[in-house]
Amino acid sequence: MNLHNRIGVDLASFDRLLREVVSSDRDLPPSSVVLSSVMDLINAGGKRLRPLMVVLGSRFGESGHEPAVMKTAVLLEYLHMASLVHDDIIDQSDMRRGRPTLHETTDVQTAVHIGNYMIARAIEWAAGHPGGDPDGSSEDVSEDEAYRLAELAALVTELCMGEYDQLHHRFDFGLTMEQYLEKTRCKTALLMAHCLKAGAEAAHADAGTAERLFQFGESLGMAFQIQDDLLDFTKPKEAIGKPAGADLRNGNITLPVLYALNDPALAPKIRQLGPHSAAADMDDVIQRIAASGAIEQSEEFARSYAEHARRMIGDFADHPAQRDLQALLHYFLP
Ligand code: FPP
Ligand code: MG
Repeated sequence: MNLHNRIGVDLASFDRLLREVVSSDRDLPPSSVVLSSVMDLINAGGKRLRPLMVVLGSRFGESGHEPAVMKTAVLLEYLHMASLVHDDIIDQSDMRRGRPTLHETTDVQTAVHIGNYMIARAIEWAAGHPGGDPDGSSEDVSEDEAYRLAELAALVTELCMGEYDQLHHRFDFGLTMEQYLEKTRCKTALLMAHCLKAGAEAAHADAGTAERLFQFGESLGMAFQIQDDLLDFTKPKEAIGKPAGADLRNGNITLPVLYALNDPALAPKIRQLGPHSAAADMDDVIQRIAASGAIEQSEEFARSYAEHARRMIGDFADHPAQRDLQALLHYFLP
């Protein structure tokens, strides 16, 4: 069963809200490529994992704050979607989820603008709905809400720095485990952690619960990104909707590569790779890493984060929404 069914969230009505963010923008002509492109991105679907995490976090607070929770979920999904538009340009990925990426269906310049627009419009939309009020006319943004928006703005800064670190260390085979973990935390885990925490805060959960949800989300996010890094070596193109080995081809040093660098037979072959390596040399190394013990070691490492999250679930034992956290964990660690 899908995660949204398991935790009882209606994604169709959430998607309607996503569409409303752009359809309500009076500055956007109906014939605009920006409008149709954002609609296409929304219609392409996706697991909507991050907004589901926002809703899940809110279940640890009070009921009756639905509009503020949905607004947070929409904002975070927009930041995520926009970051993928930019990520696919940076990674030169022509496919995502089996479909051509935005810069392929438009062009790189257009896609950069659309990604920027999505971030700006989502913030404008959220700020224009103080307290989650759909009319957004009467109330001012409360101090709490201003604090939450500032936290999310800081999150975008960290996302950008995580991606910058990755770019800066392309083909840097001296990357340390510590640097890899910090980059992974910034580019993926923090967003997931913030989704749970912001959902809890929007529903006025107590600060301790929101903080524990943040830590739970951080561990899940680390497990999620390491699994994503693994898929790049283990799954055929058809299964991941993009060419296998793309990370290493782009010079991104992920956990399987770090472990493979400890293998005396493999290390020299990896270290000789660079941006201008022949495709055959690259393919050969990717296949060797995929067949090496580095895969199992990375799986074990991802499992250790998921296990840490599993242990944390005990902290929520007295709460009815604990079973939703179990469902989320099950999604990450079937
Ligand atoms: C996917 O990583 C990308 C991210 C997790 C973050 C991308 C962030 C930016 C490009 C910074 C800019 C942010 C905003 C909000 C504009 P991946 O390439 O490892 O995963 P993939 O396999 O899904 O491509
Ligand atoms: Mg990518």
